[in-house]
Amino acid sequence: MLTRTPGTGFLGAHATIRAMPGTPVPMPIPAGLQAPGTEGAEFEPLIGLADLPPGALRRVTRGDLDLLIVHTPSGIVATDDRCPHMSAPLSQGALDGCVVDCPLHGARFDLASGGVVRFPNTGGLDTEGIHHAPWRPPESAPRPEQTDAKAMARAATRVRRIRYYPLRIRSGYVEVALPRP
Ligand code: FES
Repeated sequence: MLTRTPGTGFLGAHATIRAMPGTPVPMPIPAGLQAPGTEGAEFEPLIGLADLPPGALRRVTRGDLDLLIVHTPSGIVATDDRCPHMSAPLSQGALDGCVVDCPLHGARFDLASGGVVRFPNTGGLDTEGIHHAPWRPPESAPRPEQTDAKAMARAATRVRRIRYYPLRIRSGYVEVALPRP
């Protein structure tokens, strides 16, 4: 089922934790994807569980940091509310299980692993620097390669890795470790 709400994802690759109804848990952070500056940082309450039902995506802003907090079937996760492609707010996308769709260029990201499920339809570079051609319908005829400045910029844009913020649940609130200034 797709759930679209204005507003906020998370855990380790291959995680199999399933939150029991009414007992949300943090999703493990995928190895190597913890946000810089959050090691040992203090936790801050950002949103009440009452405002984060299953399937919800919520944006929470602190200073110049826009965070995405998501209640997935595998737990609650916190990331940047910026698509790792061109920074569109994922909180305005759609959630299907642990997979979030970006509303701008149609990329899909698995919040449980941090992996790309579907590459942006603009094409570009993946995290390893490998080029992907722009998407086109399978039945459509190949189009001549574009070489204008915008096309070149799109081709050189790399999808970055998703960064995750440690979180815990205390007294009905989701508390997130924010980077130290
Ligand atoms: S900004 Fe999200 S897919 Fe391009």
